[in-house]
Amino acid sequence: MGITGLFLISFLLVHCFLNSLIFVNDGGLTFNMGAHFMGTNWIIRSMEIVLFAGLLLHIVQGYRLWLENQSARPVKYAVYNGSANSKWYSRSMGLLGTLLLIFLVVHISKFWVASRFTGIPSEDVNGNHNLFALMVETFQNPLLVALYVFSMGSLAYHLLHGFASAFQTLGWNHKKYTPVIKAIGVWYSIIISLLFASMPIAMYLGLIK
Ligand code: HEM
Repeated sequence: MGITGLFLISFLLVHCFLNSLIFVNDGGLTFNMGAHFMGTNWIIRSMEIVLFAGLLLHIVQGYRLWLENQSARPVKYAVYNGSANSKWYSRSMGLLGTLLLIFLVVHISKFWVASRFTGIPSEDVNGNHNLFALMVETFQNPLLVALYVFSMGSLAYHLLHGFASAFQTLGWNHKKYTPVIKAIGVWYSIIISLLFASMPIAMYLGLIK
């Protein structure tokens, strides 16, 4: 879980950076150019297979771990005080992951399937697929905006535990560096989730066109 988790964390960094090109606010030309590069570069396209395999493995491992934890204590504690030594989100990784899985099913079917299979309806002035226009259209729906914002809340908490936990799982514990990793993890989780959440909101409010 540590390795697939760190791999997904690095994917999210690239994904978030690329999507942030919408904030150039040039009608999506820069963003579409970035998306075109990602969609046509064969190295990136090959990585897409690794990405989906990694995602699947992470989900399967996550559920297996959750099941193991359940069966480890079939008879529950009479008195349970989980908050004594762990945060609620650390004990809810299965739930947070499931919420993210629901988000991913909607998300992939909205964008990735259109981009790779069913086709993007329009092209921009540079002749690139207008993925930006599809995003703007998608985020006119307040229900989808709400789903995205809520899901980015789940992502924030999933990462708040997952980032540092991945290093711990791999045994990378160090007196000096572990507190630094934890701090980077907190900043990473908050900044990435806020940036992602601000995208549908900005498009819904017409701040980015
Ligand atoms: C507001 C937030 C987000 C927006 C606007 C967004 C937008 C997009 C777009 C436009 C694509 C299609 C890219 C292409 O085919 O060229 C895509 C693909 C994808 N997104 Fe997102 N995304 C967001 C958040 C997320 C999050 C939080 C995750 C994971 C938890 C995620 C996972 C993926 C995956 C796995 C793909 C397919 C692989 C790929 O094309 O690279 N996305 N996203």
